[in-house]
Amino acid sequence: MPERAQLDLINHAQRARLRELAASAAENSYSPYSRFRVGAALLLEDGNIVTGCNVENCSYRLTSCAEQGAIARAVAEYGPAVRLRAVAVANLNGAASMPCGACRQTLTEFGDDDTLILYPGEGGSEQETTLGELLPFAFRLEFLEPRDESRES
Ligand code: THU
Repeated sequence: MPERAQLDLINHAQRARLRELAASAAENSYSPYSRFRVGAALLLEDGNIVTGCNVENCSYRLTSCAEQGAIARAVAEYGPAVRLRAVAVANLNGAASMPCGACRQTLTEFGDDDTLILYPGEGGSEQETTLGELLPFAFRLEFLEPRDESRES
């Protein structure tokens, strides 16, 4: 269980609400191939909440995960400076699921190590962790900034 102070600022009712909104978003899932209906709800730093669902494609690799859809929507609605306080993921299949590897990287672009992640565990349990725990040693924007001026063209 993460013990960082910031996580305590998101109270139990807010966490429950985020999980509910993620489950509601999953109702709109387009998933005729996997039949795995996923929803995500993002709590932004300014308090706004944005949801998304998975959208599959007959060219399977073009499938967009719920978290990715929610991120695209958050940026489209609120701009490129959006930051994540918390992310809830839900599915309507009664399965345990947490953000996939690609989604962890996508979330890291707009989140921090202490961004709260709420996800369903085994047996319908409510689990939580942090983005830093899900993706340690993430590739980050800062790495693209050159440090050695002699290498600049
Ligand atoms: N999926 C998500 O939406 N988010 C994840 O983090 C894991 C997987 C979707 C993709 C696909 O439509 C279905 O779940 C089965 O993999």
